[in-house]
Amino acid sequence: METIIGHSIEKAREYLENGELVAIPTETVYGLAGNALNEDAVLAIFKAKNRPEFNPLIIHLPFWQDVKKYVERVPSEATELAMFFSPGPITYLLRKKAIIPDLVTAGSKKVAVRIPAHTLTLQLLRNLHFPIAAPSANLFGYVSPTTAAHVYAGLNGRIPYILDGGECTIGLESTIVDFEDGEVIIRRNGGISKEAIEEVLKKPVRLETEVTNHPVAPGQLKSHYATHTPLRMVDLDDEKIGEANKSFILIGFGSAEYSEGYNLSPEGDLEEAAKNLFSMLRKADEAGVDEILAEWLPDEGLGRAINDRLERAQHSQKLSSF
Ligand code: TXA
Ligand code: MG
Repeated sequence: METIIGHSIEKAREYLENGELVAIPTETVYGLAGNALNEDAVLAIFKAKNRPEFNPLIIHLPFWQDVKKYVERVPSEATELAMFFSPGPITYLLRKKAIIPDLVTAGSKKVAVRIPAHTLTLQLLRNLHFPIAAPSANLFGYVSPTTAAHVYAGLNGRIPYILDGGECTIGLESTIVDFEDGEVIIRRNGGISKEAIEEVLKKPVRLETEVTNHPVAPGQLKSHYATHTPLRMVDLDDEKIGEANKSFILIGFGSAEYSEGYNLSPEGDLEEAAKNLFSMLRKADEAGVDEILAEWLPDEGLGRAINDRLERAQHSQKLSSF
Protein backbone atom coordinates (compact mmCIF):
# COMPACT_ATOMS: atom_id res chain seq x y z
CA MET A 1 0.00 0.00 0.00
CA GLU A 2 1.41 3.36 -1.08
CA THR A 3 0.54 6.06 1.44
CA ILE A 4 -1.18 9.12 -0.03
CA ILE A 5 -0.44 12.62 1.27
CA GLY A 6 -3.39 14.96 0.74
CA HIS A 7 -5.51 17.79 2.08
CA SER A 8 -8.97 16.18 2.01
CA ILE A 9 -10.87 16.17 5.29
CA GLU A 10 -13.58 14.16 3.50
CA LYS A 11 -11.13 11.37 2.57
CA ALA A 12 -9.71 11.34 6.08
CA ARG A 13 -13.23 11.02 7.47
CA GLU A 14 -14.06 8.10 5.16
CA TYR A 15 -10.96 6.15 6.13
CA LEU A 16 -11.59 6.71 9.84
CA GLU A 17 -15.24 5.68 9.55
CA ASN A 18 -14.10 2.46 7.86
CA GLY A 19 -11.87 1.67 10.81
CA GLU A 20 -8.69 2.61 8.93
CA LEU A 21 -5.87 4.85 10.09
CA VAL A 22 -5.02 8.41 9.05
CA ALA A 23 -2.12 10.60 10.13
CA ILE A 24 -3.42 13.98 11.23
CA PRO A 25 -1.75 17.34 11.85
CA THR A 26 -1.91 18.95 15.27
CA GLU A 27 -0.14 21.99 16.72
CA THR A 28 2.22 19.70 18.70
CA VAL A 29 3.22 16.78 16.46
CA TYR A 30 1.43 14.68 13.82
CA GLY A 31 -0.84 12.00 15.28
CA LEU A 32 -1.68 8.51 14.00
CA ALA A 33 -5.46 8.51 14.28
CA GLY A 34 -8.03 5.72 14.53
CA ASN A 35 -11.57 5.39 15.90
CA ALA A 36 -11.04 5.24 19.69
CA LEU A 37 -14.27 3.27 20.20
CA ASN A 38 -13.33 0.57 17.68
CA GLU A 39 -10.93 -1.98 19.20
CA ASP A 40 -9.76 -3.22 15.82
CA ALA A 41 -8.81 0.29 14.77
CA VAL A 42 -7.01 0.83 18.08
CA LEU A 43 -5.11 -2.43 17.66
CA ALA A 44 -4.14 -1.33 14.15
CA ILE A 45 -2.58 1.83 15.63
CA PHE A 46 -0.33 -0.18 17.94
CA LYS A 47 0.60 -2.44 15.05
CA ALA A 48 1.34 0.33 12.52
CA LYS A 49 3.86 1.97 14.85
CA ASN A 50 5.21 -1.21 16.46
CA ARG A 51 4.09 0.22 19.77
CA PRO A 52 3.69 -2.07 22.77
CA GLU A 53 0.10 -2.28 23.96
CA PHE A 54 1.00 -1.41 27.54
CA ASN A 55 1.58 2.20 26.46
CA PRO A 56 -1.85 3.93 26.48
CA LEU A 57 -3.23 6.38 23.87
CA ILE A 58 -4.59 9.92 24.06
CA ILE A 59 -8.13 10.51 22.75
CA HIS A 60 -8.80 13.68 20.80
CA LEU A 61 -12.08 15.62 20.83
CA PRO A 62 -13.29 18.75 19.01
CA PHE A 63 -14.88 20.48 22.03
CA TRP A 64 -14.15 20.55 25.75
CA GLN A 65 -17.92 20.12 26.36
CA ASP A 66 -17.66 16.62 24.79
CA VAL A 67 -15.29 15.42 27.51
CA LYS A 68 -18.13 14.55 29.88
CA LYS A 69 -19.46 11.95 27.42
CA TYR A 70 -16.32 9.90 28.02
CA VAL A 71 -15.27 10.61 31.60
CA GLU A 72 -16.96 10.16 34.98
CA ARG A 73 -15.88 13.38 36.61
CA VAL A 74 -14.13 16.58 35.65
CA PRO A 75 -12.18 18.15 38.55
CA SER A 76 -12.54 21.94 38.85
CA GLU A 77 -8.82 22.43 38.16
CA ALA A 78 -9.21 20.61 34.83
CA THR A 79 -12.02 22.96 33.84
CA GLU A 80 -9.97 26.00 34.85
CA LEU A 81 -7.03 24.82 32.76
CA ALA A 82 -9.26 23.93 29.81
CA MET A 83 -10.90 27.36 29.79
CA PHE A 84 -7.43 28.81 29.40
CA PHE A 85 -5.43 26.30 27.37
CA SER A 86 -7.81 24.13 25.32
CA PRO A 87 -7.79 23.77 22.38
CA GLY A 88 -4.04 23.58 22.87
CA PRO A 89 -1.00 21.46 23.82
CA ILE A 90 -2.36 20.05 27.08
CA THR A 91 -3.77 16.59 27.89
CA TYR A 92 -5.95 15.75 30.90
CA LEU A 93 -5.94 12.40 32.72
CA LEU A 94 -9.53 11.80 33.82
CA ARG A 95 -11.49 8.82 35.18
CA LYS A 96 -12.94 7.05 32.13
CA LYS A 97 -16.45 5.82 31.40
CA ALA A 98 -16.93 2.23 30.25
CA ILE A 99 -17.46 3.33 26.63
CA ILE A 100 -13.70 3.88 26.29
CA PRO A 101 -12.07 0.47 25.57
CA ASP A 102 -9.49 -0.73 28.11
CA LEU A 103 -7.15 -1.19 25.17
CA VAL A 104 -6.99 2.61 24.76
CA THR A 105 -5.93 3.17 28.38
CA ALA A 106 -3.85 -0.02 28.74
CA GLY A 107 -6.13 -1.07 31.56
CA SER A 108 -5.90 2.19 33.51
CA LYS A 109 -9.06 3.66 35.03
CA LYS A 110 -8.06 7.02 33.60
CA VAL A 111 -8.16 8.13 30.00
CA ALA A 112 -5.95 10.85 28.50
CA VAL A 113 -8.04 13.53 26.71
CA ARG A 114 -6.95 16.43 24.54
CA ILE A 115 -8.50 19.11 22.32
CA PRO A 116 -5.89 19.80 19.63
CA ALA A 117 -5.52 23.33 18.22
CA HIS A 118 -5.31 22.75 14.49
CA THR A 119 -8.01 24.03 12.13
CA LEU A 120 -8.00 21.06 9.75
CA THR A 121 -8.06 18.46 12.49
CA LEU A 122 -10.73 20.30 14.49
CA GLN A 123 -12.87 20.38 11.36
CA LEU A 124 -12.30 16.65 10.86
CA LEU A 125 -13.13 15.86 14.51
CA ARG A 126 -16.36 17.87 14.31
CA ASN A 127 -17.44 15.69 11.38
CA LEU A 128 -16.92 12.42 13.26
CA HIS A 129 -19.31 10.81 15.71
CA PHE A 130 -16.50 9.18 17.71
CA PRO A 131 -13.30 10.40 19.39
CA ILE A 132 -10.00 9.48 17.79
CA ALA A 133 -7.13 7.81 19.57
CA ALA A 134 -3.82 9.18 18.34
CA PRO A 135 -0.25 8.64 19.45
CA SER A 136 2.51 10.54 17.68
CA ALA A 137 2.76 9.30 14.08
CA ASN A 138 6.30 7.89 14.27
CA LEU A 139 7.59 4.35 14.53
CA PHE A 140 7.84 3.44 18.21
CA GLY A 141 10.95 4.88 19.83
CA TYR A 142 11.92 7.27 17.04
CA VAL A 143 11.74 11.08 16.91
CA SER A 144 8.18 12.48 16.67
CA PRO A 145 7.05 13.91 13.29
CA THR A 146 6.36 17.62 12.80
CA THR A 147 5.72 17.54 9.04
CA ALA A 148 3.78 15.26 6.66
CA ALA A 149 7.13 14.28 5.11
CA HIS A 150 8.39 13.07 8.51
CA VAL A 151 5.30 10.88 8.85
CA TYR A 152 5.78 9.52 5.34
CA ALA A 153 9.41 8.66 6.06
CA GLY A 154 8.35 6.38 8.94
CA LEU A 155 4.92 5.07 7.99
CA ASN A 156 4.81 4.88 4.18
CA GLY A 157 3.14 1.61 3.25
CA ARG A 158 1.68 1.15 6.74
CA ILE A 159 -1.27 3.57 6.54
CA PRO A 160 -3.48 4.70 3.64
CA TYR A 161 -3.56 8.47 4.16
CA ILE A 162 -1.70 11.43 5.65
CA LEU A 163 -3.72 14.63 6.08
CA ASP A 164 -1.18 17.36 5.38
CA GLY A 165 -1.68 20.41 7.60
CA GLY A 166 1.76 21.95 7.23
CA GLU A 167 4.47 22.21 9.83
CA CYS A 168 3.45 21.86 13.49
CA THR A 169 3.55 25.25 15.21
CA ILE A 170 4.48 24.07 18.73
CA GLY A 171 6.71 21.11 17.81
CA LEU A 172 6.66 19.36 21.19
CA GLU A 173 4.03 16.91 22.48
CA SER A 174 1.32 18.09 24.85
CA THR A 175 1.88 18.54 28.57
CA ILE A 176 0.09 15.72 30.44
CA VAL A 177 -1.72 16.77 33.61
CA ASP A 178 -3.16 14.45 36.27
CA PHE A 179 -5.56 15.23 39.13
CA GLU A 180 -5.44 13.42 42.45
CA ASP A 181 -7.09 14.42 45.76
CA GLY A 182 -7.15 18.11 44.88
CA GLU A 183 -3.56 17.98 43.70
CA VAL A 184 -2.46 18.76 40.14
CA ILE A 185 0.45 16.69 38.85
CA ILE A 186 2.37 17.08 35.59
CA ARG A 187 3.18 13.60 34.20
CA ARG A 188 4.90 14.75 30.99
CA ASN A 189 6.53 18.11 30.27
CA GLY A 190 5.33 19.45 26.96
CA GLY A 191 4.01 22.41 24.99
CA ILE A 192 2.64 24.25 28.04
CA SER A 193 5.07 25.02 30.83
CA LYS A 194 4.64 24.30 34.54
CA GLU A 195 4.96 28.03 35.17
CA ALA A 196 2.04 28.82 32.83
CA ILE A 197 -0.13 26.18 34.51
CA GLU A 198 0.66 27.50 37.99
CA GLU A 199 -0.16 31.01 36.92
CA VAL A 200 -3.65 29.96 35.83
CA LEU A 201 -4.35 27.79 38.87
CA LYS A 202 -2.71 30.25 41.27
CA LYS A 203 -1.17 27.34 43.16
CA PRO A 204 1.93 25.18 42.85
CA VAL A 205 1.70 21.94 40.87
CA ARG A 206 3.84 18.85 41.28
CA LEU A 207 6.19 17.56 38.58
CA GLU A 208 6.20 13.79 38.52
CA THR A 209 7.83 12.90 35.26
CA GLU A 210 10.08 10.17 36.64
CA VAL A 211 11.22 8.11 33.69
CA THR A 212 10.90 4.37 33.85
CA ASN A 213 10.93 1.27 31.72
CA HIS A 214 8.34 -0.40 33.93
CA PRO A 215 5.46 -1.36 31.66
CA VAL A 216 2.58 -0.53 34.00
CA ALA A 217 3.88 2.90 34.93
CA PRO A 218 1.89 5.09 32.57
CA GLY A 219 3.28 7.63 30.22
CA GLN A 220 6.97 7.80 30.55
CA LEU A 221 9.17 5.30 28.80
CA LYS A 222 12.77 5.99 29.55
CA SER A 223 14.18 5.28 26.11
CA HIS A 224 12.35 7.21 23.43
CA TYR A 225 12.69 9.95 20.82
CA ALA A 226 15.94 8.30 19.81
CA THR A 227 17.96 9.08 16.72
CA HIS A 228 19.77 6.16 15.06
CA THR A 229 23.02 8.08 15.49
CA PRO A 230 24.19 8.00 19.13
CA LEU A 231 23.34 11.23 20.96
CA ARG A 232 25.18 12.69 23.92
CA MET A 233 24.37 15.73 26.08
CA VAL A 234 27.35 18.03 26.54
CA ASP A 235 28.36 21.12 28.45
CA LEU A 236 29.84 23.59 25.98
CA ASP A 237 32.02 25.10 28.69
CA ASP A 238 34.04 21.90 28.63
CA GLU A 239 37.11 22.49 26.53
CA LYS A 240 36.90 19.33 24.53
CA ILE A 241 33.43 18.20 23.63
CA GLY A 242 34.08 15.78 20.78
CA GLU A 243 35.86 12.47 21.07
CA ALA A 244 39.08 11.67 19.28
CA ASN A 245 38.60 9.99 15.90
CA LYS A 246 34.84 10.54 16.01
CA SER A 247 32.97 12.94 13.77
CA PHE A 248 30.09 14.81 15.34
CA ILE A 249 27.39 17.35 14.70
CA LEU A 250 26.31 19.75 17.41
CA ILE A 251 22.79 20.82 18.31
CA GLY A 252 23.17 24.06 20.21
CA PHE A 253 21.05 26.85 21.62
CA GLY A 254 21.58 30.60 22.05
CA SER A 255 24.23 32.99 20.92
CA ALA A 256 27.40 30.86 21.11
CA GLU A 257 29.02 30.15 17.76
CA TYR A 258 29.08 26.70 16.22
CA SER A 259 31.17 25.88 13.25
CA GLU A 260 29.41 22.62 12.54
CA GLY A 261 25.80 21.90 13.39
CA TYR A 262 22.37 23.29 14.15
CA ASN A 263 21.20 26.04 16.44
CA LEU A 264 17.72 25.50 17.93
CA SER A 265 17.37 29.25 18.42
CA PRO A 266 20.24 31.72 17.98
CA GLU A 267 18.19 34.31 19.91
CA GLY A 268 17.74 31.92 22.81
CA ASP A 269 13.96 31.73 22.35
CA LEU A 270 12.61 28.51 23.92
CA GLU A 271 9.44 28.47 21.79
CA GLU A 272 11.50 28.66 18.63
CA ALA A 273 13.77 25.92 19.96
CA ALA A 274 10.78 23.66 20.64
CA LYS A 275 9.48 24.17 17.13
CA ASN A 276 12.88 23.28 15.60
CA LEU A 277 13.88 20.42 17.88
CA PHE A 278 12.51 17.32 16.12
CA SER A 279 13.32 18.55 12.59
CA MET A 280 16.90 19.31 13.58
CA LEU A 281 17.27 15.97 15.34
CA ARG A 282 16.16 14.23 12.15
CA LYS A 283 18.53 16.30 9.99
CA ALA A 284 21.42 15.64 12.37
CA ASP A 285 20.54 11.95 12.22
CA GLU A 286 20.81 12.04 8.42
CA ALA A 287 24.18 13.85 8.46
CA GLY A 288 26.17 10.62 8.55
CA VAL A 289 28.32 11.52 11.58
CA ASP A 290 29.46 9.22 14.41
CA GLU A 291 27.78 11.23 17.16
CA ILE A 292 25.19 13.92 17.75
CA LEU A 293 26.15 16.21 20.61
CA ALA A 294 23.39 18.29 22.18
CA GLU A 295 23.71 21.24 24.50
CA TRP A 296 21.60 21.44 27.65
CA LEU A 297 18.96 24.16 27.55
CA PRO A 298 17.96 26.31 30.53
CA ASP A 299 15.92 24.21 32.94
CA GLU A 300 12.84 26.44 32.88
CA GLY A 301 9.64 26.84 30.89
CA LEU A 302 9.72 24.87 27.64
CA GLY A 303 13.45 24.25 28.19
CA ARG A 304 12.47 21.53 30.65
CA ALA A 305 10.46 19.63 28.03
CA ILE A 306 13.23 19.99 25.44
CA ASN A 307 15.88 18.71 27.87
CA ASP A 308 13.57 15.83 28.69
CA ARG A 309 13.33 14.76 25.01
CA LEU A 310 17.10 15.05 24.51
CA GLU A 311 17.83 13.10 27.68
CA ARG A 312 15.55 10.28 26.60
CA ALA A 313 17.27 10.14 23.21
CA GLN A 314 20.60 9.91 25.04
CA HIS A 315 19.35 7.19 27.33
CA SER A 316 18.21 5.02 24.42
CA GLN A 317 21.74 5.02 23.08
CA LYS A 318 23.05 3.84 26.43
CA LEU A 319 20.57 0.99 26.47
CA SER A 320 21.27 -0.14 22.94
CA SER A 321 25.03 -0.10 23.47
CA PHE A 322 24.73 -2.63 26.30
O1 TXA B 1 0.80 16.23 21.65
C1 TXA B 1 0.46 15.05 21.85
O2 TXA B 1 0.10 14.66 22.97
C2 TXA B 1 0.52 14.10 20.65
C3 TXA B 1 -0.53 14.54 19.64
C4 TXA B 1 -0.66 13.58 18.48
O3 TXA B 1 -1.76 14.72 20.28
N1 TXA B 1 0.29 12.76 21.06
C5 TXA B 1 1.22 12.05 21.75
O4 TXA B 1 0.86 10.74 21.96
O5 TXA B 1 2.26 12.52 22.13
P1 TXA B 1 1.88 9.61 22.42
O6 TXA B 1 1.09 8.38 22.38
O7 TXA B 1 3.11 9.67 21.60
O8 TXA B 1 2.18 9.97 23.89
C6 TXA B 1 1.12 9.89 24.82
C7 TXA B 1 1.64 9.72 26.20
C8 TXA B 1 2.32 8.40 26.39
O9 TXA B 1 3.50 8.60 27.12
C9 TXA B 1 1.29 7.61 27.18
O10 TXA B 1 1.89 6.66 28.02
C10 TXA B 1 0.58 8.70 27.96
O11 TXA B 1 0.52 9.77 27.08
N2 TXA B 1 -0.78 8.28 28.31
C11 TXA B 1 -1.80 8.06 27.45
N3 TXA B 1 -2.89 7.62 28.10
C12 TXA B 1 -2.57 7.56 29.39
C13 TXA B 1 -3.25 7.15 30.57
N4 TXA B 1 -4.50 6.72 30.53
N5 TXA B 1 -2.59 7.23 31.74
C14 TXA B 1 -1.31 7.68 31.79
N6 TXA B 1 -0.59 8.06 30.72
C15 TXA B 1 -1.21 8.00 29.54
MG1 MG C 1 5.09 9.50 21.04
